[in-house]
Amino acid sequence: MMDGTLPRPPKEPGLPHKGPGAALRHDSALKHTTGEARFADDLAEPAGLLHAAFALSPVAHGRLLALDLGPARAMPGVVAVLGAGDVPGENDIAPIGKGEPLFAEGIVQFAGQPLAMVLATTRDAALLAAAEIAPEIEALPAVLSVAEGFSRAQFVIDPMVMRRGDVAAGLAAAPLRIEAEFHLGGQEHFYLEGQIAIATPGEDGEMQVLSSTQHPTEAQHIVARVLGCDYNRVTVACRRMGGGFGGKESNASWVAAAAAIGARVTGRPVKLRLARRADMLATGKRHPFLYRWTAGFDASGRITALRALLAADGGWSTDMSGGVVWRAVTHALNCCHVEDVEITGCAVRTNMQSHTAFRGFGGPQGAMLMEDVVHRVAAACGLPPEEVRARNFAGVAGNGDETPYGQKVEGDLISRVWAEARRDSEWDRRRAEIAAFNATHPTLRRGLGSMVLAFGISFGIMHLNQAGALVHVYSDGSVRLNHGGTEMGQGLFIKVAQVVSAAFGVDLEHIAITATSTSEVPNTSATAASTGSDLNGWAAHNAAMTIRDRMAEVAAKRFGIAPELVVFADNRAWAERIGANLFLDFGELAKLCYLERVSLSATGFYKTPDIHWDRVAMRGAPFFYFSYGASVSEVIVDTLTGEHRCLRTDIVQDCGRSLNPAVDRGQIEGAFVQGMGWLTCEELWWDAQGRLRTVGPSTYKIPGSRDVPPAFNVRLLEGAPARSETIFRSKAVGEPPLLLAISVANALKDALGVETLDLPATPERVLMAWRKRAILP
Ligand code: MTE
Ligand code: HPA
Ligand code: MOS
Repeated sequence: MMDGTLPRPPKEPGLPHKGPGAALRHDSALKHTTGEARFADDLAEPAGLLHAAFALSPVAHGRLLALDLGPARAMPGVVAVLGAGDVPGENDIAPIGKGEPLFAEGIVQFAGQPLAMVLATTRDAALLAAAEIAPEIEALPAVLSVAEGFSRAQFVIDPMVMRRGDVAAGLAAAPLRIEAEFHLGGQEHFYLEGQIAIATPGEDGEMQVLSSTQHPTEAQHIVARVLGCDYNRVTVACRRMGGGFGGKESNASWVAAAAAIGARVTGRPVKLRLARRADMLATGKRHPFLYRWTAGFDASGRITALRALLAADGGWSTDMSGGVVWRAVTHALNCCHVEDVEITGCAVRTNMQSHTAFRGFGGPQGAMLMEDVVHRVAAACGLPPEEVRARNFAGVAGNGDETPYGQKVEGDLISRVWAEARRDSEWDRRRAEIAAFNATHPTLRRGLGSMVLAFGISFGIMHLNQAGALVHVYSDGSVRLNHGGTEMGQGLFIKVAQVVSAAFGVDLEHIAITATSTSEVPNTSATAASTGSDLNGWAAHNAAMTIRDRMAEVAAKRFGIAPELVVFADNRAWAERIGANLFLDFGELAKLCYLERVSLSATGFYKTPDIHWDRVAMRGAPFFYFSYGASVSEVIVDTLTGEHRCLRTDIVQDCGRSLNPAVDRGQIEGAFVQGMGWLTCEELWWDAQGRLRTVGPSTYKIPGSRDVPPAFNVRLLEGAPARSETIFRSKAVGEPPLLLAISVANALKDALGVETLDLPATPERVLMAWRKRAILP
């Protein structure tokens, strides 16, 4: 049913086919490019399959007076039309807590909320019938902005405050002060493969769901909740996603749940694949943020006190807004140290999509606060922003190295990534060159901007920092690898396979990479928070080592040596040293183990050690470690049109001792370009009635291949193994480099000669900023 196994990777001269550290291509790279990789919609459809489509609310807030499903039921090909009353279990899809209906009941809470679902014999029939559903809704006043939600004190989570020192005294004592406000937009995930699930009912109340999900276990739980059954009746599996980016952490669960409801009610398999428009209307996005802050500083640019409010637009429901705001608050100082701080984070309730995880999970929004502070303080002091940022780096030049919540950062790595990015980018030479250009060109302006990041790695909810794996060795020595992590294009599967290849000393071609399934590894966390390879790498390593130890016993007996002296390498078990003439082929040894009745299957488990967090005090050491990075970007702006291009970007990113430098490089490039899209061309636009009008690629502009900086120099920080005990001393890479795109926004400020810029910096905003500056010198 699923594309489960990895065909042998092609032999490529010059590339090592070995374990950790090898720059191997993604295990599905060829299949992705030839189109042979099978995504959920490519799988053979089960007999009797029905297709589902939603009817969505056209109104942002209102009383649902009537919902006549009759006309839809009468349409050709329609088998059933279901609403809130047809949910067999609970009509609740909240990932945390309760109170988030799948189908609106009584009150409609945003334009795009599912009202009903049509099941028909073809997808077109389902979509046509869904379009016939005309709800009667009495409109109520809708809250459509963060500012409005904040002024009404309408929150989806309890606000949180992180404090250190005495901020009032700190601000009063500072020689200089700035008070400011700015706004930052959200972002649509725009995964190439939209949300999709296929649910197949089985015997005894079983439900098998193939889901494009980052979180099979949560999808399992939500499916069980809407069906009103035990978890053990539900299996959720995912071989790969065509991108997730956080958008398939919680949202995939309710898509799976809807398909499962259809399958339960009709007794037939159901496929639910959201059209792009429905996907963009119904699913949450990156949280937009509103910032209000006051900073105290001196004329040298040293920032000594900061009071800030970070207000996120949570949308209509809670979802994961608590985690996102927590990460924004803990990342609000980013790589800098400020002694007296008070950072308040909240998520307001609005009548918008329920905003959710998106690469960085609030971290980028947090770091943006410090960038705004640094740039405005720099302007006030007449100093370059780079200098002000570096003057405030945590852990250097007499600055403390402790975050306000009490965890230490590594100041030496912060200054090192910045020094290297500055050097790589030929900062001083280009600064002069750009100044000369700007002095002479009548309409074009060039600008240079930078970014430095310190991103905490671990889930903010401590118990999520765990993972499991299941490894089998068959009697021919071939290995089957399974773990709780999901593959969304980020290269997790190849990295974990590399880890297992090292444990057994066998080449990757002997290791089958298999689909994630709740029936193989249960009770997993989402593949999120960039922790996929950290957690699942260790879990798989532990499983493999359990088997390897058993195999070593058998080999040792055969060799007549102690088990500790058996070495696994080059697809063999060796007596004492590789190249010695006493060895067993790995396959021979596996066969021997089988004959000796030794188990060749094991589970592995891992939990991140040493992390802790006190929710009440807002203190602790919640991160296993920090990831560091720095970037420099150059832009050129057309001051007549407001358009710009990023001409060159230099990046130095800390990946520890990279498990796979080729994959990590791809992650850095992709995260950067995705971040650039967020800050420049991607603009979500809701009309005055709160209806999202950017619902496809024609109105929502994601970066294309021509937006990639023509000079794009990405480098992994060298000789910097992780200091904490990560798997092979590697570091997470999935999210942190997204923050490096902030250098583009900073370069735009530089080009325009402004100290702040509302984002995304669309041509309109750039033009307005330029005009304002020209009129008000
Ligand atoms: N890379 C690709 N190609 N596609 C994705 O969907 N998601 C990102 C990142 N890189 C994503 C990606 C996000 S949001 C996270 S949290 C991490 O991958 C998750 O995977 P990891 O923990 O294995 O790095
Ligand atoms: N990142 C992503 N997803 C999450 C997190 C996080 O820190 N915490 C809970 N879900
Ligand atoms: Mo990533 S936003 O943690 O899925």
